[in-house]
Amino acid sequence: MNATIACLPGDGIGPEVTREAVKILSVIAEVHGHAFGFPEHPMGGIAIDTVGSSLPDASLAACREADAVFMGAVGGPKWDDPNAADRPENGILALRKGLELFANLRPVRVQPQLVDASTIKADVVRQVDLVVIRELTGGIYFGPRQEADAEESSAYDTMLYSAPEIERVVRFAADLARSRSGRLASVDKANVLASSRLWRRVATRVLEGYADLDVDHVLVDAMAMHLIRSPGQYDVIVCSNLFGDILTDEASMLAGSMGMLPSASLGERLNSLGRPLGLYEPIHGSAPDIAGQDRANPLAGILSCALLCRLSLGLDREAAAIEAAVDRVLAEGVRTPDIAETGTEVVTTAVMGDLVAAALRA
Ligand code: NAD
Ligand code: IPM
Ligand code: MN
Repeated sequence: MNATIACLPGDGIGPEVTREAVKILSVIAEVHGHAFGFPEHPMGGIAIDTVGSSLPDASLAACREADAVFMGAVGGPKWDDPNAADRPENGILALRKGLELFANLRPVRVQPQLVDASTIKADVVRQVDLVVIRELTGGIYFGPRQEADAEESSAYDTMLYSAPEIERVVRFAADLARSRSGRLASVDKANVLASSRLWRRVATRVLEGYADLDVDHVLVDAMAMHLIRSPGQYDVIVCSNLFGDILTDEASMLAGSMGMLPSASLGERLNSLGRPLGLYEPIHGSAPDIAGQDRANPLAGILSCALLCRLSLGLDREAAAIEAAVDRVLAEGVRTPDIAETGTEVVTTAVMGDLVAAALRA
């Protein structure tokens, strides 16, 4: 198969984890007889510095033409001036909106070898295998906003959802739940927020068409607690943009580290293969505290490549091979510092990538 995978390395540890992702996809291409191209495009802080925009038009155009997009991470203290006209994070939002990627899948799978790497008790995390579906192109991220005025007296953001925006993401999550265990939890804050009351009404109506599913509506503050108390009870969780952002950073600690959680963002746009054009990225950020030290965990990025193969390229065997290679390397006791425990061998970002690559060739 020929495929173009547009790469947006970004800032901080973004380029470090992108390098390992490309390393793994290159081995997949070599071992399975594919031809993948990995054109790189500027985005984020580096794009502000070099091109003057967090998402240059040419980068967005290239992503639209690609079969899939891989993104590292963007942002950092250099671009944190609150008065700046553009921010690296704007680039991500513009990319998600520009590709109409309304459904963000964030699977939380706890690798058996990492059960003790979590700060949560082993018995609690052992059963975890859930997917958060985060609405990605609406809500408070995109509603009307007013920056603070010169007196710094007030500012606002608006959590705005339309019924069709809620309906399509709930439908997406319900279809996924149907293909898994049949359990779906819809998260909102319907006891306080008008947009959440609409969310719950629309979700309830949509889910009437999925009578076979076991559906629960959970308030977001309670969900934050349940995810720590008994995460094993959940399978598919669907929520708004902001709630999904927060709950998945929390859920990453069930898996042991932010450095373990991949993501896929999908919409209705198709690629040249007739499959969904997706954006694949680790859920973590640019980690300025460890950038440039070759200590970032590349596995979230590498596992995002498995999702890329499966969802945008239709390469199930290759996706499974990547996941199995990660399992094998972890089973050998190799760890990056964020998931290290006594008795394990600590390696750099690049060596972790090399070991996964070697496991793929074995
Ligand atoms: P972060 O995710 O970058 O880091 C949070 C903590 O997790 C840090 O201690 C970091 O060292 C650790 N961590 C993250 N990824 C890791 C990895 N792969 N391996 C090992 N440790 C890892 O969040 P933050 O510090 O709040 O944000 C830093 C910058 O990243 C900000 O500018 C933020 O806006 C941006 N950000 C970008 C994205 C993205 O590009 N998708 C996502 C989140 C945050
Ligand atoms: C994420 C990030 C982004 C988000 C930021 C950097 C815009 O935290 O992808 O989880 O909030 O969506
Ligand atoms: Mn986030």
